[in-house]
Amino acid sequence: KTIKLAVIPGDGIGHEVVPGALGILERLGEIHGGLKFEFEHFDYGCDHYLQHGDMMAPDGLERLSQNDAVFLGAVGDANKVPDHISLWGLLIKIRREFQQEINVRPAKVFEGIRSPLANPKDFDLMVVRENSEGEYSSVGGRMFHEEHEIAIQSSVFSKRATSQAMHYAFDLAASRGKMVTSATKSNGIYHAMPFWDDVFKEISSDYPDVSTTSEHIDALSASFVTRPERYDVIVASNLFGDILTDIGAAIMGSIGIAPSANLNLNGKYPSMFEPVHGSAPDIVGKGIANPVGQIWTAKMMLDHFGYTELGSKLLQAIEDTFREGIMTSDIGGSASTHEVTTSILDKLQ
Ligand code: NAI
Ligand code: MG
Repeated sequence: KTIKLAVIPGDGIGHEVVPGALGILERLGEIHGGLKFEFEHFDYGCDHYLQHGDMMAPDGLERLSQNDAVFLGAVGDANKVPDHISLWGLLIKIRREFQQEINVRPAKVFEGIRSPLANPKDFDLMVVRENSEGEYSSVGGRMFHEEHEIAIQSSVFSKRATSQAMHYAFDLAASRGKMVTSATKSNGIYHAMPFWDDVFKEISSDYPDVSTTSEHIDALSASFVTRPERYDVIVASNLFGDILTDIGAAIMGSIGIAPSANLNLNGKYPSMFEPVHGSAPDIVGKGIANPVGQIWTAKMMLDHFGYTELGSKLLQAIEDTFREGIMTSDIGGSASTHEVTTSILDKLQ
C-alpha cells in the first residue's frame, strides 16, 4: 500500500520540523513492511506569494487533491505578507475547499514534563471542534455610521454539520473513555445553543454506552484549567472549540507539542494534518523548534489511515524520549530539534 502525501512545509519553523516527521513516517512504513509513502512537495507559502502574487498556484487545490492527505507545517511570515492574507490564502482555503468540517485535537501531559496539575497522568482528552460554520460565518454586516454604527454577526448551525461533529465525538468516545462533554451556552445564546443541546440529546440516544454531560462554556473553561483530568471527549462549536484547544495546548506545556487533524468526512477531498503552532518567527533558524507537534501530527495521520498500531508505536517513542529528559527548551529541556527527532526515530522498532 502506498499513501500519497502532499507536503507543504510552509514558512518559518515548518521547514525545520516537517523533514524529520517525514523520515519518521518512512521508518514506520519499513517497520510495518509494505507501507510506502510518496511525498509530493509544494513550495506554497509567503515566498511563493512574493514571487507569484499568490500563496498557492492557481491549480494548487487541484494538485493537492490528487493526494491522499495534506501534511502541513506552518504558514505565516508577517514581514513578507500580512497574516490574514497568508492564512486565508492557504490554510483556511484548504480547510474550506476540501470540506474539512471537523477539527480534532488531542491534549495530554507527557511524563517528564513539568505540570501544575495534581494528576497530570489522568489528563488525556480529545476536543472535537465543528470546523466549518457556527460563530465563524460570514452572515452579517456593518451598517450606519459613527456613533450609530452597528455590526451584526450571525452564527449558523446546521443540523447536518452539528450532528456530524457530535457523531464523530461519540464514535471517538466509544473507543476511549466512554464520556462526551458538550460545550454549550444555552442559558445565554438564545437560538443556536438550545438547538445545539437538542441535537446533542438526540445523537446521544444512539450511544447508550457513552455517558454525557453538558457544561456551559464559561464554567467548562474554568474547570478545564483547574481539573482537565475530568474530561475524555469534548464536542464544541467552532468558536468554543478554538478557545478550548488553545487552553488545552497551554496545559500540555507548550504549543510546540500540540497536533491537529482537519478531517474531510465525505471522502471527496483529502484531510489535512498540521501542528497547532505557527511559524514561530522568534526562534526560526536556531534549530530549537519543538518537533513533537509535527511528529504527533504524523501519528494522528497514521491513525486516520487505520495504522493505529504504528500510531501507538510512535506515541510510545515520544513518551520514552520525554521520559529520558530529551526535550527542547520550550518545555524546559536543552535538546535541539534534531536531537529530539533522532531520539524518537531511534526508539521506533
Ligand atoms: P506561533 O505558534 O508561531 O508562536 C507562538 C509562540 O510559541 C512563540 O514564542 C514561538 O516561539 C513558540 N512556538 C511555536 N511553535 C513552537 C515550537 N514548535 N517549538 C518551540 N516553540 C514554539 O504563533 P504566532 O507567533 O502568533 O504567529 C507567528 C506566525 O505564524 C504568524 O504569521 C501567524 O499568522 C502564523 N500562524 C500560523 C498557524 C498555522 O499555520 N496553523 C497557527 C498560528 C499562527
Ligand atoms: Mg486558535
